[in-house]
Amino acid sequence: MSTFIEARGIEKAFMGVKALHGVDLDVHVGEVLALVGANGAGKSTLMRILAGAQPPDAGTIAIDGGPVSFGRPQDAQDYGISTVYQELMIVPDLSVVENVFLGALKKNRFGLLDWPAMRVEAGRILSTLGFSASVDALANTLSIAEMQLVEIAKTLTRQSRLVIMDEPTASLAKEEVENLFKIVRRLSAEGIAIIFITHHLNEIFEICDRAVILRDGANAGNATIAELTENELVSMMLGRSVTANVDRSGTALRQDEIVLSARGITRAPALHGIDLTLRRGEVLGIAGLMGAGRTELVRILFGADPADRGTLEAKGRVGYFGSPRAALDAGLGLAPEDRKGEGLILPLSIGQNITLSSLKKHVGPLGLKLGDEASKARDLAAQLQVKHVSLDQAVGELSGGNQQKVVLAKLIGAGVDIYLLDEPTRGIDIGAKEAIFDLIWSLTETGASVILISSDLSELLRLCDTIVCLHLGRVTQTHRRSDFDLNAIMLGVMGKAEHAPAGKAVV
Ligand SMILES: Nc1ncnc2c1ncn2[C@@H]1O[C@H](COP(=O)(O)OP(=O)(O)O)[C@@H](O)[C@H]1O
Ligand SMILES: [Mg+2]
Repeated sequence: MSTFIEARGIEKAFMGVKALHGVDLDVHVGEVLALVGANGAGKSTLMRILAGAQPPDAGTIAIDGGPVSFGRPQDAQDYGISTVYQELMIVPDLSVVENVFLGALKKNRFGLLDWPAMRVEAGRILSTLGFSASVDALANTLSIAEMQLVEIAKTLTRQSRLVIMDEPTASLAKEEVENLFKIVRRLSAEGIAIIFITHHLNEIFEICDRAVILRDGANAGNATIAELTENELVSMMLGRSVTANVDRSGTALRQDEIVLSARGITRAPALHGIDLTLRRGEVLGIAGLMGAGRTELVRILFGADPADRGTLEAKGRVGYFGSPRAALDAGLGLAPEDRKGEGLILPLSIGQNITLSSLKKHVGPLGLKLGDEASKARDLAAQLQVKHVSLDQAVGELSGGNQQKVVLAKLIGAGVDIYLLDEPTRGIDIGAKEAIFDLIWSLTETGASVILISSDLSELLRLCDTIVCLHLGRVTQTHRRSDFDLNAIMLGVMGKAEHAPAGKAVV
């Protein structure tokens, strides 16, 4: 198979931190190449370099055997390289046809813009892609899947030879993914190469011819799909397999006491029949990709969203909580993913935020007992080592890690003993992370239980007694601390369901 593009020794650093260390990549004419790697492996950076959107610090690129250098995206497009970015590049206030021809407008023989011809061509291309809206519709009225088709139509008007698709299925529904597969197969049959970035095993193994694996900004493997197993792929992504850290002894876990049990939780389109069991003193981790349904799941447990079906039994009562207030009153609290939007009131003081959920406890016969409230807030802030000047300081002035501690203090102050923590360590520094890990453990020592969502698998391995993998709204695997296996957990996250050996207890 002849090679279309050859990249050699590509290096890229951001503010001194290496994102790519001498990566090589070949793309053959008409192939569908899976580019695979954990988050942060360097996939998007490498693609931006191939698309001329970012210059490499070092390395060479050749097309059809001749060296090229891209100063800007247009240079790469002139060689037939187009990209459908993760964050789509549609202009919302322009029509579909204007978006399709943006940057490559067609003129007629009088040198005037030829809208009739562009409308006809856009309509023809889009209909072959399964697009049913009008070419005159404004882009901001389209669904994500339709916008993606507009992006693909753009690439087809430009004599593309390589189309880069960066996680194109991350926000598509099942039928939309099927349609995209058809398009990918058609482009490939026409000799157009595709680089397809995805974390879903079924997509890699169904649609791709070959896989290139990146790990920590370097090449970690390369194989034709027919000769690759799921296990080999994941081993290349992760390197040596990492087992559980000994930090967590699990001494707080009381196996026999179930504090929360969910059966068949369903909410279309995100969740399909989720079963979960949480025990006293347990840290239960939920691993999954964007779109797996992790946040949706904890929001339902917290009464923030209704479920379509399923049952919940928590704190000795049966039934979903009707509202977050009802959940909090029962001792179940959520630290949301979006702590600035939902977890905290930024202009209010630290003290006010901490006592927000527990005001009822400070109300005496003569109204709010302000002395009580302040001393409680002081104790909690000290316990969590919130770095602050005074409790009267606005929460919005604190660092991310300290804001997260205030969220947790608020839940502790409200007397919660089932904690739902959605990405509690995202975007915070290592010191604050360690403090939050210590806090999670000390909470379980006192009999609390925690459901922890984290995109960082090594964090889950370190903290949890149990890890449940969620993929597209279904539980694929459940692992106990005694048999944690990073490869198996990653496979579960990427969609491989476990085949429970006969006789094995179901969690
Ligand atoms: N514009 C940027 N500024 C600083 N760091 C960046 C930038 N883009 C990417 N990085 C860093 O480069 C590394 C690779 O990121 P990326 O290419 O996005 O990985 P992937 O797409 O495989 O998840 C990460 O450590 C990321 O934080
Ligand atoms: Mg990326």
